[in-house]
Amino acid sequence: MKLGVCYYPEHWPEAQWDQDFATMVQLGIEWVRIGEFAWALYEPKLGQFEFGWLERALDLAHQHGLSVVLGTPTACPPKWLIDQHPEILAWDETLTPRHFGSRRHYDFASEVYAEHCVRIVTAMVKAVGEHPAVKTWQTDNEFGCHDTIISYSPVAVAAFRNWCQAQYGDIATLNRQWGNVFWSMAYDSFEQIDSPAHTVTEANPAHHFDYWRFHTDAVKAFNKRQVDILRAHSPGRDILHNYMGRFTQFDHFKVGEDLDIATWDSYPIGFLEQSPESEDYKATYARTGDPDFIALHHDLYRAVGKGRWWVIEQQPGPVNWAPHNPAPLPGMVRLWTWQAFAHSAEVVSYFRFRQAPFAQEQFHSGLLRVDSEPAQAYFEIEDFNQDRAKISGDIAHQPAKVALVFDYAGDALLRIQSQGHPDSPLQVVLNWYRAARKLGWNVDIVPPGGDLNGYALVLVPQLTHLSAQTMAAFEQTEATLMFGARCGSKVETVSIPQNLAPGELQRLIPIKIASVESLRRNISAPWQGDYNATAIAWREKVETTLTPRAICADGWGGWYQSGRVHYIANDLSAEDWQQVFATVASEIGLAVQPLSGGVRRRAFGDYWLYTNHGPDQATLPESGELVVGERVLGVAEVAIVKVG
Ligand code: GAL
Repeated sequence: MKLGVCYYPEHWPEAQWDQDFATMVQLGIEWVRIGEFAWALYEPKLGQFEFGWLERALDLAHQHGLSVVLGTPTACPPKWLIDQHPEILAWDETLTPRHFGSRRHYDFASEVYAEHCVRIVTAMVKAVGEHPAVKTWQTDNEFGCHDTIISYSPVAVAAFRNWCQAQYGDIATLNRQWGNVFWSMAYDSFEQIDSPAHTVTEANPAHHFDYWRFHTDAVKAFNKRQVDILRAHSPGRDILHNYMGRFTQFDHFKVGEDLDIATWDSYPIGFLEQSPESEDYKATYARTGDPDFIALHHDLYRAVGKGRWWVIEQQPGPVNWAPHNPAPLPGMVRLWTWQAFAHSAEVVSYFRFRQAPFAQEQFHSGLLRVDSEPAQAYFEIEDFNQDRAKISGDIAHQPAKVALVFDYAGDALLRIQSQGHPDSPLQVVLNWYRAARKLGWNVDIVPPGGDLNGYALVLVPQLTHLSAQTMAAFEQTEATLMFGARCGSKVETVSIPQNLAPGELQRLIPIKIASVESLRRNISAPWQGDYNATAIAWREKVETTLTPRAICADGWGGWYQSGRVHYIANDLSAEDWQQVFATVASEIGLAVQPLSGGVRRRAFGDYWLYTNHGPDQATLPESGELVVGERVLGVAEVAIVKVG
């Protein structure tokens, strides 16, 4: 349980650095992340490198005993580089180049840019890669922030053509797999293919989907190039990247293969403000954040990091970038810190040390105010330090009994071809996850094809494509499997299986999806009989010899079971999923602990962490030894109970 902070020495007079590092140490901070936006200072002119200031900052950090995560500065190509090579700029969907003047204005497919990145990263790692303070590297910053993965530039299109050729070999195969006989979309050669932007009506979903897959490969290659340089010249250091919340524009599992640690940037209140939740829901949790959204990402990034993960940017107070920016309730920074550690984070690092009085993020709080006096988060970290001293037992992550399979490609495809589904694919996953958490379960997220042995229950909300490896994982586990609508609904690029959905899953459960419908929010279809649940958003008409466990009044079945395999042919609210999961849990002997309102719990090592995200206080259901907090849990409070 180490604490960290993001710090920008270049924003402050050098005379202030020593005191700043001393303040960090005094607050129990051991990691400091620096350097990720400073290209224009490292290289003010082409080939003229100035790392002296960075070395002095690293020396000083080292003198204070701080470990440094050093960021490569490739999120911010400097003005002189853009002026020399405007083709580095990414193009948006209106086919307009993006402008210099903020950050992330580059195209992942630009070979010219990639070579400049190689230059700056090599120069930087040669200058400071063996510095004793540098313990870890961060590549770039937030791949994709400000909608910057997909580019429609000529450079991107040229690279996409090569990607298509490598993928399909010959143009006839691409035409067949994309279904280009439709609307005379066939190509004679790969050179004729363009981006899927600016078509009259929607472009072919197969075209869109491959454009998404191509960009995943571009991000992976861009990252890997830096990783290879860092490993060669700065051996023995971990390498990480800071991913984002609610962001699925590339397959993070693929990028994560080349990194040692996954980290992410957790802004609970900003994310809720940006979310599609109702106005009432946003008002209820405005100062605490969604009770499950952050936990979902903790579990996701633990999977992306193959077990190793950090929060590298933790919201410390109001941010500057959401539609509205309420202040967290006092106590929330401490709560979020505990929550991350209970999900097995190695480090929680706050963004940022001191609020900046200039430029875009003036309204973004820090641990210190602009006048260097402590802000609210500072005091909450002191509180956390007091709690932390009370923990002496084991805090290691234990595998959960419940797994949830998350698939980035499926998420992309269901966004591209939503068929009028009113919720984003990630929101559907969040509903399943929320229901599991409200039953008091720890949940492990597993990538498609990942090992499912040892779990009692495996939740598969939406897995459109089923590879041989994925099917093998389902067949090998003895877990109860619960599949949601749209699983197995695609083959080849994005076509409907010849034997109908759920395609290969028919090996596990004898059902065929004869037709589907999507529903506007004010239409629903209650399940008849035993279950007080209601089909919403999406329904599938199933052909089968099985008798449905739940059925709607018009005869469309909702829930099918064949042995240990369940298929739910419609969407449900989180409350209704909770009811379905609780029913299955009682049938397979899996214990539940239903939690009310915004109270959640998480088992870690010998302990349970209870957190209250509001709106009401609650009494702990747990009777073990109370190590931190009170049995009556106030809003924004934590309680830690020792059970081991
Ligand atoms: C993150 C970003 C940081 C900073 C922060 C503000 O998305 O990585 O550089 O901008 O947001 O909340």
